[in-house]
Amino acid sequence: MSATGRRTRITVPAIRARKGSGEAVVCLTAYTTPMARAMDAQVDLLLVGDSLGMVLYGLDTTLGVTLDMMVNHGAAVVRGAGHACVIVDMPFGTYEEGPEQAFRNAARIMAETGADGVKLEGGRTMAPTIRFLTDRGIPVFAHVGLLPQSVQADGGFRVRGRTAEEAEAVLADARATEEAGAFAMVIEGVVEPVAADVTRAVSVPTIGIGASPRCDGQILV
Ligand code: KIV
Repeated sequence: MSATGRRTRITVPAIRARKGSGEAVVCLTAYTTPMARAMDAQVDLLLVGDSLGMVLYGLDTTLGVTLDMMVNHGAAVVRGAGHACVIVDMPFGTYEEGPEQAFRNAARIMAETGADGVKLEGGRTMAPTIRFLTDRGIPVFAHVGLLPQSVQADGGFRVRGRTAEEAEAVLADARATEEAGAFAMVIEGVVEPVAADVTRAVSVPTIGIGASPRCDGQILV
């Protein structure tokens, strides 16, 4: 809190500005107010991940997570965070139809939770949607590599980037999200050389999970 009693959370531009600073971006997922209170002072960014479907609700995948669940948990985490930047995941089915659907649902998340931005999965395919949101004032945290919302189509939770073709695809996805205006990106489940290549290639922070220490920061669920 500041002297005026207003919240002074780390901002999206401050997270973006960490690129090249040598200071790692420390991120954790949080789903409830007590979790947020316990982690807030220790981290730069709290992600209200749709992994809550598996961690809290016992679902097999994240596909059953709804927008109402994310809004309720997002608002709970924001109530417990006075320091960390808070980002809320857009769940499966709430943004893939097109930019207008994504804007409508992202705007609801922003308005009803007080979060600092949203995260959505996908690279080149989602670039026009990321551009649409960022042009309209909604900060977007991208997510490339292993995409949990696409595990059915992609053949399960398997590490990406072992072949040259896959490595090139991850790199192209990362570049596309950066060009579309994402302020940072999660790189999930890729082999270390691919994480290192992406981190060198983009001008925004890369936040790894199962992607080696050669990212600009790490996130743990
Ligand atoms: O939902 C989540 O917790 C995530 C992490 C795997 C980054 O997206």
